[in-house]
Amino acid sequence: MASTNRISRLVLVGASGNVGAPTLKHLLATSSQTNLHITVLTRPESHATFPSHPSLTVKTGTYDDPTFLQEVFAGQEAVMFALSFFAIAHEKSMIEAAARAGVRWIIPNEYAGDGLNAEMVDAVPVFHPKRDTRKYIEDLGRTYPGLRWIGVATNPFLEFCLQRKLFGIDQDAKTATLYPDAGRFNTTSLERIGLTIARLLALPITDEADPRSSLTHYANGFLYTSSFCVSQTELLRAIQRLMGSAPEEWEVDEGKTVKGWIEGCREAMKNGDAKGAWGLTFAYYMGEGLGGNYEKKAREDRRVLGLEGEEENLDEVVKRALRGGSLPKVV
Ligand SMILES: NC(=O)c1ccc[n+]([C@@H]2O[C@H](COP(=O)([O-])OP(=O)(O)OC[C@H]3O[C@@H](n4cnc5c(N)ncnc54)[C@H](OP(=O)(O)O)[C@@H]3O)[C@@H](O)[C@H]2O)c1
Repeated sequence: MASTNRISRLVLVGASGNVGAPTLKHLLATSSQTNLHITVLTRPESHATFPSHPSLTVKTGTYDDPTFLQEVFAGQEAVMFALSFFAIAHEKSMIEAAARAGVRWIIPNEYAGDGLNAEMVDAVPVFHPKRDTRKYIEDLGRTYPGLRWIGVATNPFLEFCLQRKLFGIDQDAKTATLYPDAGRFNTTSLERIGLTIARLLALPITDEADPRSSLTHYANGFLYTSSFCVSQTELLRAIQRLMGSAPEEWEVDEGKTVKGWIEGCREAMKNGDAKGAWGLTFAYYMGEGLGGNYEKKAREDRRVLGLEGEEENLDEVVKRALRGGSLPKVV
């Protein structure tokens, strides 16, 4: 369907959220160079506002209205989902509607760990619906030839997870649990996620001279983004530095292990406690050798996206998180 060798028409679903807002910001910032037109699909009950921009169209309607979806998806080349947890049940039917309308590139609602690490995905229940959706797209590709997905692996969102104290560090209580069997893990700022996706969508569809730097290389595969590959201790030190708080003021527990944490989460799940499933996600992100360190892959993708040498500053991102400013605004 693409008349050029680049995606020129994209639908973004969930453009006002943690992932969607910075992505839209970066897509609009470069749209005059990339010739990308973005259609935002937003819900009638949404309070989101979007800027007036020549490269942007906003369509308001419900996720289960086939006539509305057909109208939005017709003539589009790619659809990116950045959906709230509360809406992920709608993703598959929207993908089907998009495929039926002729869309061939899907950026599904990933933004989590390395979906190609089968052992990790098996162990972490939160990743299962994401794997199901990827398989669904591949199956749908038999009916709609050429349909492909590109997953964006982000690992934990740094500001979002730090504010929710998901790294074992509680900046309000000044307590931390540092696991001796935790390792370095990748984590990404929301700003970097938006920039990465904008750069990804600007890649040529094919590149004979450099096939590695094309969308086709990533078809039915993952792109890995990361702001930092850090240890818990480095995060704790950054937080202490920025709070101006001496290490002696903190209560640090170094007596627990990720292994024990995982066992506890599995036990909680057996007893029907959903917190076990969320705990497993972070235990696998942080546990040494469990899949949370994908730096080698991220380094290669930074090269492809021209992000080498554009490193972020850990203190800057942590400072933003501590101030509560996790959500970059579109305007
Ligand atoms: N790796 C991590 O640390 C991490 C953390 C959080 C999420 N995630 C993943 O990233 C995905 C996107 O998360 P996000 O945090 O960007 O999502 P979000 O900000 O919570 O929501 C994104 C958008 O979804 C739309 N939406 C649809 N139904 C909604 C509902 N019932 N309530 C609220 N919004 C609704 C809204 O767009 P409109 O208002 O424009 O319709 C909203 O702006 C998640 O599904 C999850 O898979 C990963």
